[in-house]
Amino acid sequence: MAVKYNADGNTFILETRDTSYLMKVSRYGNLLHLYYGERIPDENLDYLIQVCDRGFSPNPNEAGNDRTFSLDYLAQEYSTDGKGDYRIPSIEVVNGDGSQIFSGKVSGYRIYKGKYALEGMPSLKAASRDTVDTLEIELRDKESGGTVILFYSVFEEKNIVTRTVRFVNNGSEAIRLEKLASVTMDFKDSDYDFIVFAGRHTMEREFTRIPVQSGVHSVGSSRGASSHQYNPFAIVCDGGAGEDHGRCFGYSLVYSGNFAIEAEKDQFKQLRINAGINPQDFSWTVNPGEQFQAPEAVLAFSGEGFARLSHLYHDIYRENLCRSPYAKKPRPVVINSWEAAYFDFDDTKLLGIAKQAVDMGVDLFVLDDGWFGKRDDDNSGLGDWKVNLKKLKRGISGLSEEIHALGLQFGIWIEPEMVSEDSELFRAHPDWCLKAPGRPMTRGRNQLVLDLSRQDVCDYLIEAVNGILHEAKIEYVKWDMNRSISDVWSGLLDAGRQGETLHRYILGLYHVMDEVILKHPEVIFCGCAGGGGRFDPAMLFYQPQIWCSDNTDAKNRLKIQYGTSFAYPINTIESHVSVCPNHQTGRYTPLKTRGIVSMDGILGYELDSTKLSEEEKAVCREQVKFYKKNYRLIAEGDYYRLASPYENPYFTAWQHVSKDKKKSLVSLVLTDKEGNDAQRYVKLKGLDREAMYRIEGQKGRYSGALLMNAGLPVPYELDEYESVSFCLRRI
Ligand code: DGJ
Repeated sequence: MAVKYNADGNTFILETRDTSYLMKVSRYGNLLHLYYGERIPDENLDYLIQVCDRGFSPNPNEAGNDRTFSLDYLAQEYSTDGKGDYRIPSIEVVNGDGSQIFSGKVSGYRIYKGKYALEGMPSLKAASRDTVDTLEIELRDKESGGTVILFYSVFEEKNIVTRTVRFVNNGSEAIRLEKLASVTMDFKDSDYDFIVFAGRHTMEREFTRIPVQSGVHSVGSSRGASSHQYNPFAIVCDGGAGEDHGRCFGYSLVYSGNFAIEAEKDQFKQLRINAGINPQDFSWTVNPGEQFQAPEAVLAFSGEGFARLSHLYHDIYRENLCRSPYAKKPRPVVINSWEAAYFDFDDTKLLGIAKQAVDMGVDLFVLDDGWFGKRDDDNSGLGDWKVNLKKLKRGISGLSEEIHALGLQFGIWIEPEMVSEDSELFRAHPDWCLKAPGRPMTRGRNQLVLDLSRQDVCDYLIEAVNGILHEAKIEYVKWDMNRSISDVWSGLLDAGRQGETLHRYILGLYHVMDEVILKHPEVIFCGCAGGGGRFDPAMLFYQPQIWCSDNTDAKNRLKIQYGTSFAYPINTIESHVSVCPNHQTGRYTPLKTRGIVSMDGILGYELDSTKLSEEEKAVCREQVKFYKKNYRLIAEGDYYRLASPYENPYFTAWQHVSKDKKKSLVSLVLTDKEGNDAQRYVKLKGLDREAMYRIEGQKGRYSGALLMNAGLPVPYELDEYESVSFCLRRI
């Protein structure tokens, strides 16, 4: 059993193959955190609990005159509120009497085989061959009856611990939650860096490393979606940790809405991490007998740097997250109409693009925005999911038939969560959007957000989107979401419950996705929110792939995909070759490089294929062939970041290695060149040290040890933005 309770020490022990996680019930019933990290022998860790009399650190009543016990400095598994722990709390409540106190003491526990279930929210699922055990610990505040249940599921072989928290009101008065973190983790020291993935629209998930400083550092989203600005993933690591060395702790939230990840270095140089729903603008009233469920957090530990941490996340997210059968199947190479035509198309133009795409080896044609309602630009039409017959004379089904007749599959773009003021839907249901009474509304891309916290709106969306899917043969759907949410107010909630709206929106969205996406396992759904504005594990529960960014510039993509790769598997990152000058940056990069960068993800095209020369089409054809040949390696192999676009000014490089180490693909893009430049080398990773490898198209054989220590020379003839791939085969 991966979960044990040791009655002698009153200790809970979670063990994966390589990690240990320990907690202890204190003599007064508080649950203290003892240890998380590399697997350690079964030992008594009580010596780690330092108790002493600290100035201005209060002592709980049950400690009597013992001035050495204070929640102000003890490492806790889930903090109290208002009981003398002044660090960022795990929980904030308002009790029936107005007090803001929660003092959870261990009141029970349960250990069982298998994983806990989370209703209404995405979470990891155990596969049949996984050994998973679960621990539930109940922390009860006896005065209010409020009870926190901490859940831990231990994926023994995968070295993953998932956590979540449920709040149950066992009292007699309503309790208002103002915060309920999914995870708290106290460290007894703080010589760490905090790594977050910060960004903006068209420049998502930039690797950002901050040495932990005194005070609170908090990142998150208050935009209603997990956001372009911060990703619900953070790493705490040793100050000197790198790709292959140092201890790293990962915190990944399976949530698509407002989140916060907080790091506090306290007065005693200890660190607390919290992650969960963003407490800003959040509240939830839990009536007696009711409960509130926090989203899941996925924890991983690596004692060998970031690469190993990424492998742990990639493996579990590839195998235990996405419900689509496509998660484990090769994905079609798509051509998308957006950068090719924007809103300016008719069926003749689309068919022209599709026809040429056949010649490029593409599998699927995606019709992006602009095919429905009155949608000739982005000012109108959202909500009216009826085909625009002026553009598509034979409707969606007619176009789909014609695309299929060319030998391609067919896909479509939708943005169900939004409505334009200039639309039939808005005119019929002006109350269906988020908007506060008596206040002018705030527009974003000239559109409004439907109130998915309402069941009637969700019902309408389920019917509308399922209707589109039944109208024609559609094999792929790009599900977009193109604005940050503001003016949060829902017409169906009481004034005192408006703080619930955004979380209810996300629950409504999951419900719609349950009823649309999970009911159509034959369709590939691709997530999108203005590119990567909702690139999170919860979206990957429904959608096997996400449009990584609206930025298709190959150089910028190096950074975006580098950051994305820390938590997310390569076969979730949709990445397209577009034209030059690039539409976002104006930059020119070689077509070959655009292909190589797109293959660091799910390759696709986003260009007007009728404008490509025969020579360019031939290059694309080769790219598709190469990609398909190496698909399994790219999608399922271990991923190594060889040279960072942040640290290496000259080149960025990455590598895929098959699990059996027989095959590897190394890709490199030159990002700067100097006159009479130095000869540079790229050192490979993850190979079998003892084995010999051959590089396709080259003479010679090299040992894994040599390639990993001396490296391969970066071809001297490469010019700026040129690139190269090496395919290695073990002999
Ligand atoms: C934003 C997406 O990220 C783009 O790829 C495109 O689908 C547009 N929306 C369409 O409006």
